[in-house]
Formats: sequence, structure tokens, C-alpha cells
Amino acid sequence: MNTMEEDIQKILIDQETLKARVAELGKQISADYAGKEPLLVSVLRGSYIFMADLTRSIDCFCRVDFMAVSSYGAGTVSSGQVNIIKDLSDSIEGKDVIVVEDILDSGNTLSYLIQVLKARHPASIRLAALLDKPSRRTKPITADYVGFEVPDEFVVGYGLDYDELYRNLPYIGVLKPCVYEKN
Ligand code: PRP
Repeated sequence: MNTMEEDIQKILIDQETLKARVAELGKQISADYAGKEPLLVSVLRGSYIFMADLTRSIDCFCRVDFMAVSSYGAGTVSSGQVNIIKDLSDSIEGKDVIVVEDILDSGNTLSYLIQVLKARHPASIRLAALLDKPSRRTKPITADYVGFEVPDEFVVGYGLDYDELYRNLPYIGVLKPCVYEKN
């Protein structure tokens, strides 16, 4: 049986680089929301590690909430249909919301989610995405805060999975094609 490390072709973003960039994003958000109390909404499951590190880099008052969605449809490309599996615990009406995501890929999930959240009348809504894969975008959506732009490769780690595994790798790595081609 392989170790996790043996399934990784290369490290795309190492721990130190992640730490430094997340700290920068936190600093930027702290400055942008000075005097406000933003509500950070983590979209599970992929964003959990980014959320934990990002919130600890923010030094203004802020609140957190969590939701889980799934895009369903055939194949590896999300279909555009999104299902809310776990909704937020509290109302976002009048709140300054920052949606926290691990990756902005086709944009299907986030376009739908932002539309749903806007209908709940927040004071403002912005998007923070650790990774952005603009080459895959099919919906006209951009993130307000982006950690890193990444090429169209199968990335895992720091919260991102393949078949629910690899989320606990402390860096962002590219998965060896043989791992997903055998399924
Ligand atoms: C990932 C990611 C986004 C979505 C982005 O979630 O967290 O929610 O895909 O893709 P899109 O831009 O093409 O819609 P995933 O469905 O892998 O679930 P997970 O967060 O539980 O890993």
C-alpha cells in the first residue's frame, strides 16, 4: 500500500508559502473590514483548513459559520446543480459576509451559492478563494481575495481531496494521474 506522499507527483505550494500568503490575505481582510464585524462562511469540506488559518490571521472582530453543499451530476465536472446539505446556523441579514472556499474551478458552486446568499439580504458579500483555476471557468465569477492562481492540474492537500483522501497533507500537491486513472 502506498503512503500519501508516494501518490504525489510534485509539491505545487509548500507549507511556508501557504502560511505567508494566508497571513497576507488575513492582513488585507483585517484592513478592509476595520471597524466592521465580518461573518466568514466556510463552505465545507474543502475549506476547513484554509478557514482555520485565515481566521487566525484576521485581527478584527469576526464571526464564523459553516455550510456544506454538493454539486451533483455525471463525471468530474460539476453540473451546475448544487444541493445544500448543511445550511448556515444563523441569519446573514445585514451582515458583511465573506464566503471562504478552497478552490474556484468552473464557478458553478460559487455562482449558485452567492445567488442564494444574496437573496438573504446581507449588507455585503465577498468571496475569498485559496486557489483559483481560471482556465476551467464556465461561469462569470471572480474572487475578491485569491491566494494563488493554479494551472489545470489535479491538486490535493491543505483541505482539498481526491476521493475524500489527502485533505490532511500540509501542502498543495499534484496527484499522480495513475491514482485517479485506476478508478
Ligand atoms: C470543491 C470546492 C468548491 C467546488 C469548486 O468542492 O470546495 O466547492 O468544488 O468547483 P466549481 O467551481 O467547479 O463549482 P467539492 O465538490 O470537491 O467538495 P469538498 O469541498 O467537500 O471537497
